[in-house]
Amino acid sequence: MTKLRQETIAVACGFHIDETGATNPPLYLSNAYRFNDAKHAENLFALRENGYIYTRLNNPTNAVLEERLNALEGGVGALVTSSGHAAEFMTVCALGGSGDEIIASNALYGGTFNMFAHSLRRLGIKVNFADIRKSYSFEELITDKTKAIFVESISNPGCEIPDFEVISKTAKKHKIPFIVDNTCLSPYLFRAKEVGADIIVHSTTKCISGHAAVMGGAVIDCGTFDWTSGRFPAFCEADPSYHGVVFAKDFGQNAFITKLRAQVLRDIGACQSPFNSYLTLQGLQTLHIRMDRHIENTLKLVDYLQANPQVEWVKYPTIENNEFKSLAEKYFKKGCGSLLCFGLKGGFERGKRLIERAKLCLHAANLGDVRTIITHPASTTHSQLSAEEKAASGISDNLIRISVGIENIEDIIEDLEQAIND
Ligand SMILES: Cc1ncc(COP(=O)(O)O)c(C=O)c1O
Repeated sequence: MTKLRQETIAVACGFHIDETGATNPPLYLSNAYRFNDAKHAENLFALRENGYIYTRLNNPTNAVLEERLNALEGGVGALVTSSGHAAEFMTVCALGGSGDEIIASNALYGGTFNMFAHSLRRLGIKVNFADIRKSYSFEELITDKTKAIFVESISNPGCEIPDFEVISKTAKKHKIPFIVDNTCLSPYLFRAKEVGADIIVHSTTKCISGHAAVMGGAVIDCGTFDWTSGRFPAFCEADPSYHGVVFAKDFGQNAFITKLRAQVLRDIGACQSPFNSYLTLQGLQTLHIRMDRHIENTLKLVDYLQANPQVEWVKYPTIENNEFKSLAEKYFKKGCGSLLCFGLKGGFERGKRLIERAKLCLHAANLGDVRTIITHPASTTHSQLSAEEKAASGISDNLIRISVGIENIEDIIEDLEQAIND
C-alpha cells in the first residue's frame, strides 16, 4: 500500500483483522499473556523478541493506539500513558535525573508549569524557563547539564507559538533533544517532527480522544536524536536494572522509546488503561472531521467576539495584529486549533458573570472536547501559579479561555451573547 494520509491512518492503521473478522480493534482486558514456552518467555523479557508480557508494559489494544499515533506523528515508536502528565514526567525521567537541567518555554499549561517549576525541582531537576517571544533566550540557558528543550506547539491558554525552526536548530547545535507537547493541535493540524522535534508528547485526554470520556497520554519517539552524541551516557552504558542492555547500541533509532517502556514505564507504572485506549481509538477515528469543524467554529467565534463592543480584546493567532500571526501562517497551514482567549470590558467580575450565565458553553477544566468549554484560567487551571508566574505566562485576571466545540456555531454565539448581555 502507498503511504497513507492522516485521515486514513486515523481509521485504518495498526489493526489487522484476526480470525474472528471483528472490524473494530477489540478491547483486550487481560493483565497478563500466556507464553508459548520457556524460550519465548525468556526472549520477551530479554527484549530479543516483541510480544506481550504484562499490561503495565504493553497490551494489544494499547498497541493499536500506539501504532496509530506513531504513524500520525511520523515517529519510530510510541508509548501510551495514563495521562498527559504521566507522558511528560516519564519522558523527563528517561532523559535525566537529579543534577540535570531542562529548558522549557514560559508559555505552558499551568499543570506542566507546576510540575516543572516545583515537583521536578524537588527531585533535583532544575527547569529554566525561556521567553517564548525571544527564541535566542533558549540558547542562553543551555549548560552542560541540559537534557531537553520543551515547548507546547501552541500554548494553553495564550495561543503563543514558538519559532520551532530556530529553537530546533539551537537544540541540534548543542545535541539536546527537542520535545514538543502537541496536545492543543494534534498531528492532524501539525506534525512537529517536520520542524525538528525529536520527541512529541500528548495529553490524549484532549482532542485526540475528543469526547471528554477518558484520561490518557502518549509519547512519540521521532527516532531523530543521536543518543551517542555525548550528553546521554546512561543510553550508552550497560543498564544494571536491565541485565546490561545498552539502549543506544542495542536499539539504535528506537533507543529512547525502548528505554521509556522497558525501564521507566516498568518502574513508574503509569500505564494506559486498555479501556481508555479503546475509547481513545473510537475518538481518534474522527479526529480530522472534528478538528476541521473546531476550526471553522473557532474562526466564526473570533469574528463575533472581535465585533462585540463589550469585548476588550481577543487573542487568536489568525487575528490581524496578533504577535504570532506570521508564525501561525508559517507552521500551521490547516489552522491553529480550537482554543481562544478574550477579555471583557469590566474585567474579572464581568468575566465571572459571563461564565456563570453561560448555559450551553460548559464551565469546566478541559479542552479539545466536542462540547464548547469556557474557563477562567487565573482561578482554575493556572491558579497555583504566583502573580509573577501568571504574568510571565500571559494569564491576566480577566482572561477567559474558550475551547470551541463542534456544536452549531449559531447556538454557541447565541449562548455567549445572552451571557455577555445579561
Ligand atoms: C498542553 C497540555 N499538556 C499536558 C496536559 C496534561 O494532560 P492530562 O490532564 O491528560 O494529564 C494538559 C492538560 O490540560 C495540557 O493542556
